[in-house]
Amino acid sequence: MSIAAWEKVDDHPGYRGMCEAMVERAGLTAGCRVLDVGTGTGIVPSVIEKCCPAGIAVTALDPDEGMLAFTRANRRTVDATYRCGFEEMTDVVPERGFDRVFAANSLHLAESIADAVRSVATMLAPGGLFVMLSGYFDGAVSARAVPVYAKVLRGAMKRMAHAGVTGVRLDRVAAERLQFRRVDLRSWLGAAGFTTLAEEVLALSFDQELAEATVGSEMFASGVFTGVDPEVAGPALIESVREVAAKTDLADVRRDYLLVVARLDDGRTQGRENER
Ligand SMILES: C[S@@+](CC[C@H](N)C(=O)[O-])C[C@H]1O[C@@H](n2cnc3c(N)ncnc32)[C@H](O)[C@@H]1O
Repeated sequence: MSIAAWEKVDDHPGYRGMCEAMVERAGLTAGCRVLDVGTGTGIVPSVIEKCCPAGIAVTALDPDEGMLAFTRANRRTVDATYRCGFEEMTDVVPERGFDRVFAANSLHLAESIADAVRSVATMLAPGGLFVMLSGYFDGAVSARAVPVYAKVLRGAMKRMAHAGVTGVRLDRVAAERLQFRRVDLRSWLGAAGFTTLAEEVLALSFDQELAEATVGSEMFASGVFTGVDPEVAGPALIESVREVAAKTDLADVRRDYLLVVARLDDGRTQGRENER
């Protein structure tokens, strides 16, 4: 994913506000040991730096070395980085027993979300919190946004065809694979020993800059198209967003994000919750 593009998403007040909500719900105190999985350009550590007491050390993970290099260079709260995703972290991250694990807009990218949730559980100390945010769940895209997305995708396909790019396919399966069902997430969390403390839906309204940055990202391009390099599809999507934005009010385009706070139970807390 282009770091420049994703940094624009991080700088967007709407997206940043949701990450601030994540950090606020996590109730961090000095000395907390924090793991941020799929850190990207390090928005979670940057919010921690700005909003939390000093003395919080973040271990940041991402499979993309470019993202990690950016985060290492720019986020002071990050004291260790590992090049891996949810799939390898239990093998390569030496420390166990984090107090908080964050996943901001990254859990849906795991090969298996059920396995990822289990791995998160093994990284947490009992009683520790898993705080996740994702805009890729059933119902995330508002009904009014659906035809706008469809226009953007059709426009990008036309542009690539005109440019002589062949073999492009709209990959509905991949697009659906990125999307999990809330009911499944609840059962994966329960099976991994978590109690869900909070589940909130936060709405993000798009303006043109945010639409270009998210829809033009490699993550989105590779999620919706196959047979084409995301670095070719991304710019075609951006051009298409510009064309659609010139004719459509993007203020109607909303995406919902799911913020979940779940606590890893030890025997005692689980017993109490189950009595309620
Ligand atoms: C949409 S970005 C979000 C980045 C950042 N957390 C934020 O909220 O701005 C998703 C990040 O997850 C990373 N990623 C991709 N596959 C992953 C995986 N299997 N496990 C963990 N992270 C992954 C990507 O490299 C990317 O940096």
